[in-house]
Amino acid sequence: MAAKIVVKDLSFSYNHQRVLSAVNLMVEADSILGIMGPAKSGKTTLLRIFNRLCDLIPHVRIEGEVFLDGENILRPGLNVDRLRKRVGMVFDKPVPLPRSIFENLAYGPRLHGIKDKKRLEELVERSLRLAQLWDEVKDRLNESAMKLSGGQQQRLCIARTLAMEPEVILLDEPTYGLDPISTLKIEQTLQSLKESYTIVLVSNNTWQVARTTDNVAFLLMGELIEYGSTHEIFTVPKDKRTDDYISGRFG
Ligand SMILES: Nc1ncnc2c1ncn2[C@@H]1O[C@H](COP(=O)(O)OP(=O)(O)O)[C@@H](O)[C@H]1O
Ligand SMILES: [Mg+2]
Repeated sequence: MAAKIVVKDLSFSYNHQRVLSAVNLMVEADSILGIMGPAKSGKTTLLRIFNRLCDLIPHVRIEGEVFLDGENILRPGLNVDRLRKRVGMVFDKPVPLPRSIFENLAYGPRLHGIKDKKRLEELVERSLRLAQLWDEVKDRLNESAMKLSGGQQQRLCIARTLAMEPEVILLDEPTYGLDPISTLKIEQTLQSLKESYTIVLVSNNTWQVARTTDNVAFLLMGELIEYGSTHEIFTVPKDKRTDDYISGRFG
């Protein structure tokens, strides 16, 4: 298996509060890595480091290295815009633009210089198909995205990320607050996407991590307690704290 992302001795602090301590892990290409752990474990912080969204916060301190296809993305002078195009992010709460479904998808690519109408139409259709939303919206692409249900809005946000033609997709609790059917649709979408994308899924839904991911990182108070194949972690966890967490004894 090829490593898409390699994290080496990564530590992170806000002001002087350390929230990640010497984390080492790897994200295999064309697979789904789950990051699980109780609230405030540092899951979102880790995810945000992967596309340098952490740069937007003042007074942070970061140590260690994160390699994307062998290139250290933490090095000074890295082209962050280019990185964020390669590594897209989907947040917990879907926030469509208050515009049409079509415009939600065409907006980003247009900003990146794609002006040709035919090309944009193709990109919109392809992204909506990949996010498994096309059949539900193909007859109303010009209607407001705000009219979609919560689950549809989240798939729209996944499609919007896909329209930027990324290599890696980061998702931070993407099914938070969604009903079980919408949740299942998103999990199925992720399964089909992993054939051609590397996915990192933060979730505090243990069942979702067990169902959806190939590998798991378990974080607790900023420390990586266990990392390995989903099957092994859910059948024979090595650390008692992992066992306690997945059997619902805390978190
Ligand atoms: N912008 C921020 N400024 C200061 N502290 C923060 C900020 N974001 C998160 N933290 C702190 O970092 C720790 C880890 O948070 P977070 O990465 O959001 O964890 P999780 O996603 O696992 O809930 C928490 O103690 C949180 O309060
Ligand atoms: Mg979080």
